[in-house]
Amino acid sequence: MDLVRSSGLPSSVVGMASPGPEVSEDYPIYLWLDAVRHAERALKDLKGVITAFNVNIDALHYIRPGEIENMLSGLDRDLFNERFRNPPDKIDVAEDLLAGLLLSMKTGRGMEWIIRKKAVSDWINENFQVDEYRMGGLAGITANVLARLGVGKIYPHVASLPRLQAELFEGENIKIPTISDGFVAFEGPLGAVREYDEPLIHWIFEYHSGMKVHLRGGEYIVTPNANRFIAAFDDKNTRLHIDDSFVKGIGEVIEEVDLAIISGYHLLSVAESFAEKINFTKHLFKSWKKSSGLKIHLELAYFTDLRILSHVLRSLSDVIDGLGMNEDELIQCLSALSGKRVSVEPANSSEKHLIDGLIYLMKALGMRRMVVHTRDFCVAISDKSAKEDILHAMAFGNLVAAAKALSGRHCGLDEIRSILSGGRLHVSDEGVKALNSIANRLGLRSRELLRDGSAEIDDYRLWFIPTLIVDKPLSTVGLGDCFTAGYCLLAYRP
Ligand code: GLC
Repeated sequence: MDLVRSSGLPSSVVGMASPGPEVSEDYPIYLWLDAVRHAERALKDLKGVITAFNVNIDALHYIRPGEIENMLSGLDRDLFNERFRNPPDKIDVAEDLLAGLLLSMKTGRGMEWIIRKKAVSDWINENFQVDEYRMGGLAGITANVLARLGVGKIYPHVASLPRLQAELFEGENIKIPTISDGFVAFEGPLGAVREYDEPLIHWIFEYHSGMKVHLRGGEYIVTPNANRFIAAFDDKNTRLHIDDSFVKGIGEVIEEVDLAIISGYHLLSVAESFAEKINFTKHLFKSWKKSSGLKIHLELAYFTDLRILSHVLRSLSDVIDGLGMNEDELIQCLSALSGKRVSVEPANSSEKHLIDGLIYLMKALGMRRMVVHTRDFCVAISDKSAKEDILHAMAFGNLVAAAKALSGRHCGLDEIRSILSGGRLHVSDEGVKALNSIANRLGLRSRELLRDGSAEIDDYRLWFIPTLIVDKPLSTVGLGDCFTAGYCLLAYRP
């Protein structure tokens, strides 16, 4: 698809003389151009954003060919086989780590397991090279994305702030509340360093599409797509530790905050009094809402314990304004709320599954707005009164993520604009297929869904865009968080 050619043709779809049944390559690029314009305006209006609760250090390791086979040869094969067949969803020994990693590689699904023994973290340290340290956790990544986009004040919650963590923040408009002499002061990340805090390290194992790993005998797996497996060694975020200075500090500036982007519950363990912790945050949100018209977006992540997910959803749904997740997390929500294990459907029927799943969730939780972002498309569902801001929000979220996938950096608006016109992004074919199949399911022609970007279904409105994608993302971790930051900027505008 020639983006530059179609970029000047807003009528390429709307005014098409004889629309065929299938969506062609002429997806209206003006949607993304408009989205950037809207974002520019939103950035001017926005006073402050809270990003909470999970900030950590991501230690990235790119899997090399032959490496996993080597690791496996030094491990207990029977134990590994057993853990590969019956995934423990947490890591106590190296065999668990390899089982999780290979399961993720086999299915191409992003997964995150908690390391419970320091010995495993030491073992990883000795056996895998850290290719790069990066900002980790939704609260940290979205803070950086928003800072690059030019948001005036960003208040992340940071459970642990050693120097390495502070150095990963990108900008002085990131303000961290610290208490000294009983008073709250807001410092830039480096000014707020707490030298004796422990670094919270999450190992990110990234793999490409088409990587082959030999198991025993002639058996092997091939990764169906690029993705990552996360092994987190993190004593604070797994307890949903919330810093006092954050609670006090935010209380003082809350009137100057328009938006809170929340995540981090996925790291909680059932061994903690998780219901109490979740409840504490619910009270916090309620107190924020009393003093401010802020909107609260809850972004999910991969939960290893569905009891916690179910509790989070049921307990917070009446205090949050919207919910975001990826396709794997949607399946987790359905399993958690229905109490049945919802299996991953074959790709060709997954759109039906997705739409039915979204409607089920909206009803079960009484929510007003949700978004699911995937590599190939985004779909949102809202009450019927929602405005088309949602479409721009999805398009902008998509662009922020695509710009990161292409450049490896968090980009400002100018860079995003030049990437959009640079011709290196293209509309996902899979996304267009999904659009066709959703249109079929709704009894619409794809053209209509494409032209309007939305359609009514049951008591709701469904919003859909295929995404602009990069064929070979430099890395995949954090792309969902980039989407979330961009989406939230526009989705909750008054
Ligand atoms: C999860 C992980 C974190 C990673 C993030 C990326 O929150 O815990 O390490 O940076 O996902 O989305």
